[in-house]
Amino acid sequence: MKVGTDHYRSIWLEGGAVRIIDQTRLPHEFVVVTLDTLEQAATSIRDMWVRGAPLIGATAAYGVAIAMRADASDAGLARAHDVLIETRPTAVNLRWALEEMAAFLGPVAPEDRAAAAMERAGQIADEDVAINAAIGEHGLTVIRQIAARKGGPVNILTHCNAGWLATVDWGTATAPIYKAHQAGIPLHVWVDETRPRNQGAHLTAWEMAGNGISHRLIVDNAGGHLMQHGQVDMVIVGTDRTTARGDVCNKIGTYLKALAAHDNGVPFYVALPSPTIDWRVQDGVREIPIEERSGDEVSFVQGKLTDGTVTRLRISPEATLATNPAFDVTPARLVTGLITERGIAPATAAGLAAMFPDRVVGR
Ligand code: MRU
Repeated sequence: MKVGTDHYRSIWLEGGAVRIIDQTRLPHEFVVVTLDTLEQAATSIRDMWVRGAPLIGATAAYGVAIAMRADASDAGLARAHDVLIETRPTAVNLRWALEEMAAFLGPVAPEDRAAAAMERAGQIADEDVAINAAIGEHGLTVIRQIAARKGGPVNILTHCNAGWLATVDWGTATAPIYKAHQAGIPLHVWVDETRPRNQGAHLTAWEMAGNGISHRLIVDNAGGHLMQHGQVDMVIVGTDRTTARGDVCNKIGTYLKALAAHDNGVPFYVALPSPTIDWRVQDGVREIPIEERSGDEVSFVQGKLTDGTVTRLRISPEATLATNPAFDVTPARLVTGLITERGIAPATAAGLAAMFPDRVVGR
């Protein structure tokens, strides 16, 4: 997608170097960082310079490739896995990418591993782009139907950032939005700010503005009210892990949006790339590990002062501790449809298995 007039992916190779955008600096500063070591790749995921399930997966794949340059032995491969798997617990794309890399590199001779790993990581990144483009096409059909029925701009609410910054390109939830915009369908996006880290305010709003898409920033609590007043035609969110029966784990607050959508008859769609399906779990509430992040993310906000300084501000008493679960689980029954790269599946075990008969695994 576009940054100014230039096209960027969120991770790319330049003269053999792996480059990323430091997303903690957006929207106020656009800073490109080079990842040189396994430890740096791990830090970039843990400290959320990169974030979003598909981009975490792609960065982990490149992290393994970077590690192979320093130590391509079996022990080096195992170490890369062990360091990277510990970075963030919820997005299953991390495990998926590490297992892909291990299965691919296992049979490769150590002296060939660094080059092979870089090539496979590049393929994983390219596959992500193709998956999201296909999600965009399938989601576009839904937006087109709503536009035809309604006759005015389609109002879409989204939560967090499941945009191109959360993936390698296109985004998951934003892919149908970008495709519809390109197809000339009038639309408007309600961007949830997404406390505590404000990925909506910092990242999704920046993406929408950069790509000329009509949008408004709203506080997380506004969605229900807008739905009651007919101002939301559909919700599209991303997911960090979706279970084999269609329970959707996504950024904290997604569940409340799904409840409000259900109560108001607003269709609630989840954009779901297949590497985000965890075929090994069924019950999302009980089986998915939810990342607990620092309470400081709740107690402080980051922003720009009127003099241009970017800073952090404490918003609560110093004596008050904060709890910060980063994700929640929306039960499948609240999900209208799962927009995958192969089409739109019902959020049921049978629906997902019929869409991906080649992937489903027994328990
Ligand atoms: O904590 P993050 O920023 O990595 O979480 C990302 C999300 O939850 C996104 O909203 C998303 O839906 C999953 S990535 C497409």
